[in-house]
Amino acid sequence: MLDQIDALRRQAETDLHAAGDSSALERFRVTYLARKGKIAELFDALRSVPADQRPLLGKHLNDLRTSVQALFDQRLAAAASHVQAAPALDLTLPGRRPPLGSRHPLTQVLDEIKAVFVSMGFGVADGPEIEDDYHNFGALNFPPDHPARDMQDTFFLNRTALLRTHTSPVQIRVMKEHAPPVRVIMPGKVYRNEAISARSYCLFHQVEGLHVDVGVTFSDLKGTLISFIKQFYGSATKYRFRPTFFPFTEPSADIYISCFVCGGKGCRLCKQIGWLEILGCGMVDPNVFKAVGYDSERYTGYAFGMGIERIALLRHGIDDIRLFYENDLRFLNQF
Ligand code: DAH
Repeated sequence: MLDQIDALRRQAETDLHAAGDSSALERFRVTYLARKGKIAELFDALRSVPADQRPLLGKHLNDLRTSVQALFDQRLAAAASHVQAAPALDLTLPGRRPPLGSRHPLTQVLDEIKAVFVSMGFGVADGPEIEDDYHNFGALNFPPDHPARDMQDTFFLNRTALLRTHTSPVQIRVMKEHAPPVRVIMPGKVYRNEAISARSYCLFHQVEGLHVDVGVTFSDLKGTLISFIKQFYGSATKYRFRPTFFPFTEPSADIYISCFVCGGKGCRLCKQIGWLEILGCGMVDPNVFKAVGYDSERYTGYAFGMGIERIALLRHGIDDIRLFYENDLRFLNQF
């Protein structure tokens, strides 16, 4: 019986050690210390032991019960203080709101421009940012000695690959892939080797447009772009077309709108001229059609290109283009 008492003590100590939470502790209490527990069983067995051995065994049994009870009480107290030490859980507190992102101001402008042109029946296409001389310049009728082909203005990755300097090469890719009619806008990032300042950055965004079909005229160009200006800048906006030159269009024009800060009187924003230049456009040069295999006797078309940063700068009165690329939340949270 002495062996049994020792074995039970060791078993009880192991079990108590393993009891990790309050329900395990309660199971321990029922198994060992309760009225029908294992210790009580041994007390019952004491009755059938010869009378002369009873006092000694009884003393051992009492010791066992006292020490197991003491160990148990200790563990119970420790578990209770552990529960109290944890911070009180207030289930009525409102939840924590996860911080919400917002659309970048350039994305907002781009989405609005897309919405206007999509509503006029344009599709949306894109092309690679790494281009070659042929798509970025050659097929767009740039002469071999054009200054844009210089390392000063263009980032060359190696002898043949460069970062596109405008979205116009996507025109070439679209026309090489699709027979006319085509009517698409082509938004994307472009890169220029400029000194970085508040006014210019090595990277910016453009939206290119192209419409080619039988019988497309300069009137279609004007109608479409004037409609864009009225929808995007407001129906009271005044505009003017001024002739200019691009290798890939003939004739070519720059479009200006009346300055929306001073209404045309002249201010710092419009550099006192009352007009803001917003895009370049023109009728696709027949040489471009030749490069992509379109019949320039049968088809005509217009193209246009505009910068996105400038629009966002003007709209929000932002005076430093670099802010768009720094990802400073104090700036971005305002949009
Ligand atoms: N590619 C010109 C630029 O980067 C913008 C442009 C002007 C695009 C006239 C056109 C266009 O498609 O017709 O400055």
